[in-house]
Amino acid sequence: MDDLHSLKKAFLDDIAAVSDLDGLQQIKSRYSGKKGLLTEKLKALSSIPADERRNYGKLVNELKDFIEGTVKEKELAFREIEKERRLLTEKIDITLPGKPFFFGRKHPIYQILAEIKDIFVSMGFGIEEGPEVELDYYNFEALNLPKDHPARDMQDTFYVSDDVVLRTHTSPVQVRVMEKKSPPLKIIAPGKVYRCDSDVSHTAMFHQVEGLMVDTDVSFSDLKGVLELFVHSFFGKDTPVRFRPSYFPFTEPSAEVDIGCIFCSGKGCRICKTTGWLEVMGCGMVNPRVFEMSGYRPEEYTGFAFGMGVERMTMLKYSIDDIRLFYENDLRFLKQF
Ligand code: PHE
Repeated sequence: MDDLHSLKKAFLDDIAAVSDLDGLQQIKSRYSGKKGLLTEKLKALSSIPADERRNYGKLVNELKDFIEGTVKEKELAFREIEKERRLLTEKIDITLPGKPFFFGRKHPIYQILAEIKDIFVSMGFGIEEGPEVELDYYNFEALNLPKDHPARDMQDTFYVSDDVVLRTHTSPVQVRVMEKKSPPLKIIAPGKVYRCDSDVSHTAMFHQVEGLMVDTDVSFSDLKGVLELFVHSFFGKDTPVRFRPSYFPFTEPSAEVDIGCIFCSGKGCRICKTTGWLEVMGCGMVNPRVFEMSGYRPEEYTGFAFGMGVERMTMLKYSIDDIRLFYENDLRFLKQF
């Protein structure tokens, strides 16, 4: 009986001195582990005289319950303290300034494309699309550019095979739309085009917006009216516009649209090559040959078409002098738009 008393006392001393869960774990195994002091006492039961055994056994079991209960209580207390400590050290100061989060934004080319689309949509134009991998037929032949036509050299074509190209302009969409729909027609066709070319003003991929209007009495003055309105909405209403005769196999007559140089106000500078004018797009009256190949009767219909480069429009609007800046993905550049 005495050893049980001293065992209990030793246990109480140990418990009083323990300061953390590790220490408590050691006490637990010292007393109630497989080779623990208490377990020893239980094993010793068989060597105790039979008349004392019952009582002794009862006391050992009581001590066992006491020790296990006390250890459990202590453990809960330590866990509670540990939780408090973590709550204090891990608490979040919600008054600190937040970490700034950088949101993505639309690429400048697509911002300008959206602006261009808006202007034409407000004039009643619908939006059409066509494939970027295009048949030679639509890219050239149906646009009055037969295989041996010298004007094919103007466009440095990426050939996929003899009959398939990466479209060099958005004009093939004109033909695809005319094959599918009957007049009257009033559409724009934005999209990517490809040319084997690369310098400060050319990249192998760039964007164009094509325009096409067809009806029974569309005239060159309609073309001028629509494009002047567009230029004034896009560059400002005081921007001078002129139509300069040009040549495209799919329009007749053809013209280039120039605007008064926005860098020197028309006085003449390096950018406008001292002419005072900047070229912004090509246009013209749809060539009757193109109507014929698309299944429209040229005796019945007239129309105009135009095509502009979105990169060029963006560069002019924001005075950017190197087209490659658009495709280097330098955030210092892109974040300015
Ligand atoms: N497709 C021509 C080009 O890429 C532009 C154009 C379109 C000219 C429509 C006239 C009419 O240069």
